Amino acid sequence: MSVERTLILIKPDGVKRRLSGEIFQRFEKKGLKLVALKMLQLNRQNAEKHYSVHKGKPFFDGLVSYITSGPIIAAILEGTNSISVTRILCGPTDGSKAPPGTIRGDFSMSIEKNIIHASDSQESYEHEFPLFFKESEIVETEYGDEKQIF
Ligand code: CMP
Repeated sequence: MSVERTLILIKPDGVKRRLSGEIFQRFEKKGLKLVALKMLQLNRQNAEKHYSVHKGKPFFDGLVSYITSGPIIAAILEGTNSISVTRILCGPTDGSKAPPGTIRGDFSMSIEKNIIHASDSQESYEHEFPLFFKESEIVETEYGDEKQIF
């Protein structure tokens, strides 16, 4: 068990469907801490870098077109085991197969328009977060409730 950071992106469908507040509420209620946040329009070059692990796959072009089609919200969440905890809250990639209670299970019917992206490993986080945040934009704060939560 270690304190980790993870990157999430609320995708254009999540933003346009006004689900951002509900999504952040779920992460905060679970006990994860928001340490960086911004809204942005991703350009094609950075989208291709972010999803470079999927380059060459049949869905790559559609994925890049989709993630650049409208504003997204990027955030960094911190907490013990935050990478796996965040992915459990998101649910499986395909919203039509994700169980209720998860973000994708409750709000998505699609593998592409699946509301949210979350880093799947420490290595992915290290690759992904610098595309969205400078180290100086990550805010270190003790809330004082860590002993109650973990
Ligand atoms: P995400 O967690 O953002 O990481 C990669 C994304 O690729 C994934 O969510 C899906 O939105 C998308 N993806 C994965 N597999 C497919 C697929 N078979 N068809 C279309 N999109 C896919």
